[in-house]
Amino acid sequence: MAGAAISRSGIGAPVDRVEGRLKVTGAAKYAAEFNEAALLHGHAYASRITKGRIAAIDPSAALAVPGVLDVLTHENRPDLPLLRRHYQDEVASPGIPFVPLWSDKVLFAGQPVALVVAETAEIARYASSLLEIDYEEEPHETDLKEALHRAAAPWRTRKGYVRPKSRGDAPTAFEAAAVRIDGEYHLMPEHHNPMELFGTTVVRHDDGRLTIYDKTQGALNSRNYISKIFGYGGDEIQVLSPFVGGAFGAALRPQHQLFLAVLAARHLERSVRVVMTRQEMWSLQFRPECYQWVKLGAEPDGRLAAIVNHAVTNSSRLETYTDNIVSWGGMLYRCDNADLEYRIAETDTMTPGDMRAPGAATGVNLFEIAMDELAYAAGVDPLELRLRNYAEKDEMHGIDYTSKALRECYAAGAERFGWARRVFEPRSMREGRELIGWGMATGIWEAMQSKTACRATLRADGRLEVATGTADIGPGTYTMMVQVAAERTGLPAERIEAKLGDSTLPYAPVQGGSWTAASTGSAVALACETLRTRLYEMARDLPDSPFASTGIDDVRFEDGEVVRNVDPMNKRMRFEAILEAAGCPELKVEETAKPGMISMMRKARNSHSAVFAEVRVDEELGVMRVTRIVSACAAGRIINPKIARSQILGGIVFGLGMALEEESMMDHRLGRFMNHDLAEYHVPVNADLFDVDIIFVEEQDEEVNPLGVKGVGELGVPGTAAAIANAVFHATGKRIRDLPITIDKLL
Ligand code: MOS
Repeated sequence: MAGAAISRSGIGAPVDRVEGRLKVTGAAKYAAEFNEAALLHGHAYASRITKGRIAAIDPSAALAVPGVLDVLTHENRPDLPLLRRHYQDEVASPGIPFVPLWSDKVLFAGQPVALVVAETAEIARYASSLLEIDYEEEPHETDLKEALHRAAAPWRTRKGYVRPKSRGDAPTAFEAAAVRIDGEYHLMPEHHNPMELFGTTVVRHDDGRLTIYDKTQGALNSRNYISKIFGYGGDEIQVLSPFVGGAFGAALRPQHQLFLAVLAARHLERSVRVVMTRQEMWSLQFRPECYQWVKLGAEPDGRLAAIVNHAVTNSSRLETYTDNIVSWGGMLYRCDNADLEYRIAETDTMTPGDMRAPGAATGVNLFEIAMDELAYAAGVDPLELRLRNYAEKDEMHGIDYTSKALRECYAAGAERFGWARRVFEPRSMREGRELIGWGMATGIWEAMQSKTACRATLRADGRLEVATGTADIGPGTYTMMVQVAAERTGLPAERIEAKLGDSTLPYAPVQGGSWTAASTGSAVALACETLRTRLYEMARDLPDSPFASTGIDDVRFEDGEVVRNVDPMNKRMRFEAILEAAGCPELKVEETAKPGMISMMRKARNSHSAVFAEVRVDEELGVMRVTRIVSACAAGRIINPKIARSQILGGIVFGLGMALEEESMMDHRLGRFMNHDLAEYHVPVNADLFDVDIIFVEEQDEEVNPLGVKGVGELGVPGTAAAIANAVFHATGKRIRDLPITIDKLL
């Protein structure tokens, strides 16, 4: 950056998280940890049936428990606005949003049907067990397999959902192809399982204003949602979410506990907290189950002639949740014929929701297993197959990428992994009683940017604050903001403070889609550039200015000083000295960074990866260990290699879970997820992880956004599960098309 010194804490430096100390010492407070004298606690009582209606609720036994203040149900709740638009949030799927306590109807298992409010959480939970509810049950349909015949193309889609674009005549080309594979692939539903439970603490002030501590990926989204429903004006409520203990998409939309806590706080005119239990988290959104049918036709050398990729996922009866599942293979590989089709089937469940790399995690991983099958059908090395089909363009839209260093990822990853030493034949590598398998796959995700505003304030003591309403759910947003501000202003990081997670700060969308570094980062950069210009002008216009009759290019900003390029020893001024001399107590600017709409359409923006995995399988027991993973990632410029690495690592853990462990199992007779705790829903733990090696292939991309960053929050997931599944095939010779690959499927 012209004019700014390269600093130890600027862009590209592997600095520690600025909020790390607060988190490891417990000083960082989460939504359910903000306390208040005389705080009440609400417990949401979950429906025991999956579909039907509540014929009667008798709360008298619950109300008789000492310490219980009230039981709110659909019968006695305060009046609410009738129109659905009042309940639609920034990232809602089209349809009718679910509202707790709306009516006597039960639409899914675990639906909150009553809120018991008491002096302690324990009393509320106990009293809720005394509620007497008569249900009228109706038959439910929750099994996606049973619902496949009524799946239909989504006619209402979310903002940003792109209908897959077919090309050529894939069915005919498939029939004529020399090499063909044809399979049904399946992914079980998954739940996000962030460590921090969903919780909201509503602090009610005497004048009726509310301060709301909410677990959310978007403080402004929560604020706007509550404002619309309850009719609050601009400064009557404030939503704060300074720290978030994991979310992975689960906290993009306002969740039940936010609504319930506000409802109770207003009704009782008290401060109220509602926290969902771990079990109840299974009644919130989930990554939908998916059936995907892939047919690939190729020339004898493996060059693709036809891609047929159809998929079905489920949504609820209320809303149409769509995922971008079938496009990825059609984008990634050169092929004249692609037939892409996506349908959804309504089931009696809560609406599914975004979960880390939504769509791509499912679609890319299942498709890349099919690509491995094609490699074996054609007798071509799996990496060589990807190279023979390499596309320079986005093949689905026929447009160029702003940058695409996937070829370099393949090369760097293969080199580090030692792919050249692989023996093609399955079951050909072993050590003792363990079969060794090496598999690989391609990963891809989007590089999005959303309109975001940032306020930069330089104070009299020379300290800078950069503030925006975004969230930091863990990807290092605080740190990223400080690094960008340090680079743009030349201030040392210790003198910069980032503020976020507050609905009173300048506009930012929810944190999601891996767009925050590009969006918030660009806003911080823009605000700091404006601040720099204003500060320079202020200094230049001082009487006897050392910068008299200069232009901004004649100075640089380093270590908290404006320094003239000519005669730097004598012509320099500290930031705080400039403010003081100008009689300005603080310098405040606000800027909004937004993507250029036309350039957005003209070029594809994606991050890519090449993932290589080694598994060792105990032949007699079927036990699998993923002993090595190499992921080579091209995600533009990397702001902080240390934190970016842990983002990809976290994504790889998700991919490992998808490949071998994670699945939410429903008993369809009950319509309820049965393994609803962390004992029975397996997520990978440290003992499941061995050697993970992450390589960043940096791309110089000036088109994707002003910072040249593509985001790394989600890129670790697509490709990883497939690389592991393909390694399991290479080890055992067994092709499992149904994720996760649990031992029972292997034996
Ligand atoms: Mo992410 S699933 O967009 O939080």
